[in-house]
Amino acid sequence: MDRRDFLKTTAALATVSAAGSAISAQAQGVMDKDSDAYWETIRAEYKVTDEFNNLNAGHWGIMSEPVREAFAKHTEFINAYSSHFMGSGRRVDPNARSYNVERAEIIDMLAEKLGVNSDELVFTRGVTESLQLLISGYNKLEPGDTVLFADAAYYSMQAEMRHMTVHRGAKVVLLDIPYPVTWENQIDVFEQGIKDNPGTKLILVTHMANRTGVIVPVKEIQAMARGYGVDVIVDAAHSWGQYDMDFADLNLDFVGFNLHKWIGAPLGVGLMYIRKSRMLDIDTKSSKGPAGNDDINNRVQTGTMNLAAVLSVRDALLFLADIGIVHIDRRFKALRHEWVKEFLDDDRVDILTPEDDRMHAGLTSFRIKAHPNAVELGNTLLRDYGINSAPIGNMNAIRISPGLYSSKADMAALAVAIKEIADKL
Ligand SMILES: Cc1ncc(COP(=O)(O)O)c(C=O)c1O
Repeated sequence: MDRRDFLKTTAALATVSAAGSAISAQAQGVMDKDSDAYWETIRAEYKVTDEFNNLNAGHWGIMSEPVREAFAKHTEFINAYSSHFMGSGRRVDPNARSYNVERAEIIDMLAEKLGVNSDELVFTRGVTESLQLLISGYNKLEPGDTVLFADAAYYSMQAEMRHMTVHRGAKVVLLDIPYPVTWENQIDVFEQGIKDNPGTKLILVTHMANRTGVIVPVKEIQAMARGYGVDVIVDAAHSWGQYDMDFADLNLDFVGFNLHKWIGAPLGVGLMYIRKSRMLDIDTKSSKGPAGNDDINNRVQTGTMNLAAVLSVRDALLFLADIGIVHIDRRFKALRHEWVKEFLDDDRVDILTPEDDRMHAGLTSFRIKAHPNAVELGNTLLRDYGINSAPIGNMNAIRISPGLYSSKADMAALAVAIKEIADKL
């Protein structure tokens, strides 16, 4: 390729993000964004299998077609340009595309959406990596200090907290979230945990519990904990992107995000937030120079990332922004309501996520009381009704998480299936 073509290609590919993420003109028209007609146009932006009804979007989010196409283009570009894009190109040609420049632009976009500063965010490969870095890197513990977390925390994050006994000599306390769970009793459990364990220095809180979809009052828990001089690490795997939240207003210090669940980016991208003034409380990685600097980038060492996936975060954010988080929030609640409403007065079925509007979005779990085995129930739903769900064995529950590609008919079909199964028991 001669140099002129090379520059043309570079410029053309640079515009892929913006062009690729636009939702069809039809959807962008005068439609009411809370109407089913509008959501039919959004559903058309997803290519999902029709072999089953996928109600497990909580595992990871399927990319919309504009995002998937942009991801393919980014992959094509990176495959063609290789390390030129990582630095050498820009060093000799000011017009060459540069990963560091584009990554910084996308971080700026994320910072603006979250209402934080760009130097408080860094890409990781998922929320797991973000939280491992935050938990294992938290360096304010003295041997004998206590760390707390609740049974609603994600299993591998619980393990990471437990490892603090070995790693930092900490005492580890597990709290039971009461059932039924309420907004207030979640705050009370953590406060009581701190009072019962005066040596508490750190708590882990999961913003939206992965097994039930219960939204935890992290703002209130953070404020309460701060009053006792206790730090809080927040697992935001499921919250950002699924419902309308004002992140800055939560006033948190240490947070792990996933971008491949509810933001709809390709698999393999997460985000870590550390409040700038708390940066020194998280260790730097040894490969990133000595301790004592406050650059968030020095707290992560991923090695070479999937660059195309990172670039596609821009496309995913544009896709969601075109719809608007207010409408996404309403849509997920409407999809949830479509099936949950059938069981509010049905004693045979427990809905494990409260009706309190502050405490749920789209993801919700249920149990058929007379059914003894959630895995078997999940198999029946898939085999006999074509519904893909997430069985939660240790709670004998089934987690249902619709995606933006789900229809109200999909949710109504779920309700019919649950009723039929319950009728037979
Ligand atoms: C609450 C919670 N935390 C962490 C994770 C881990 O996410 P990932 O595997 O995408 O890193 C999950 C995954 O479902 C989760 O639900």
